[in-house]
Amino acid sequence: MKLLVCGGAGFIGSNFVRLRVRDHGDDVVVLDKLTYAGRRENLHDTLDQVRFVHGAIEDPDAVADAIEGVDAVVNFAAETHVDRSIADPDAFLRTNAIGTYVLLEAARAAGVRFLQVSTDEVYGSIEEGSFTEESPLQPSSPYSATKTGADLLVASYFHTYGLETVICRGSNNYGPYQYPEKLIPLMVLNALHGDKLPVYGDGMQVRNWLYVEDFGRGIGHALAHGAPGEVYNCGGPDECPNIEVVERIVSLTGNDASLIEHVTDRPGHDRRYSLSSEKLRALGWEAQVHFAEGLEQTVAWYRENAWWWEPIRSGDYREYYERQYGRALG
Ligand code: NAD
Ligand code: TYD
Repeated sequence: MKLLVCGGAGFIGSNFVRLRVRDHGDDVVVLDKLTYAGRRENLHDTLDQVRFVHGAIEDPDAVADAIEGVDAVVNFAAETHVDRSIADPDAFLRTNAIGTYVLLEAARAAGVRFLQVSTDEVYGSIEEGSFTEESPLQPSSPYSATKTGADLLVASYFHTYGLETVICRGSNNYGPYQYPEKLIPLMVLNALHGDKLPVYGDGMQVRNWLYVEDFGRGIGHALAHGAPGEVYNCGGPDECPNIEVVERIVSLTGNDASLIEHVTDRPGHDRRYSLSSEKLRALGWEAQVHFAEGLEQTVAWYRENAWWWEPIRSGDYREYYERQYGRALG
């Protein structure tokens, strides 16, 4: 297949591109704006096997260039961090909502299949049980609200124009190449440096952890076998409260729990996410990596790949970290 992968220089997108080039021999075009979260280094071993277009999904000219001759579009491109969306939602509206609209228009003009990568956060929080694809959409943060808006727009292009759309909603991902603003890489790198580990509130919020390659395979399944107009949930095999995730990281890095510090909770913090993935399983997908094994591999990857994170920790990330945690951590 010839695929246009938007946001292919980010965390999940780069792992997906690697999987498609390595295991499927796909011809891949990557369109990426290279924001703080998108890096050519994420594709260091694959970049020479893809066509890379540096541009924004909300730019119709860049999109028209990148979409030329492809069979399908897979859209990972997004602003993705909930805390940043709380501090400043602007870029989330532009990329997640307007950007998706520009891509949909281009896919309609080209008549190609469109897979939107979405998130469990569109359903909001669930105390017990799991969300199915039929559950109501009740996003809580500016991030999840803009992802929900994008999902609704994607659905409208199926109903109104007959565009072949598929939506795949993943739960919290973890693994190599994740920018250290997110819980797991932030805690791993802080622990490796003996820095404080900032847990929001009581740390009893629960996330449904999905290894990044399992999500990549799930998206591939939805792309190849999903019915037009349908939504497929792709949830991880295990759930874990945040405090336990952090305690496991403390132990895997040979540290002491005294590094853990409870800080002010995130506003509007969703308590628990959980997805039922029966519908995707019926297409033949199954998560292969359990949390204990995936977390151990992830900690080992960060330990062994200082070349990847050192430039991040010494760059703009420091400023972000000071702004987000400086006061709380003294
Ligand atoms: P990320 O922040 O690591 O990467 C986002 C990528 O999109 C970067 O390469 C960035 O440069 C690019 N990008 C941002 N704005 C752009 C624009 N306007 N035009 C072109 N490129 C742009 O994000 P991620 O964690 O890899 O998430 C990828 C997708 O998966 C997102 O759509 C996200 O909503 C979804 N998702 C993420 C998770 C998770 O746990 N991280 C879970 C479920 C779904
Ligand atoms: P995050 O990785 O930001 O993903 P999401 O908000 O999309 O689930 O956060 C995962 C969980 O970890 C979430 O409940 C918030 C919490 N968290 C902390 O307790 N401390 C932190 O420093 C961060 C970044 C997250």
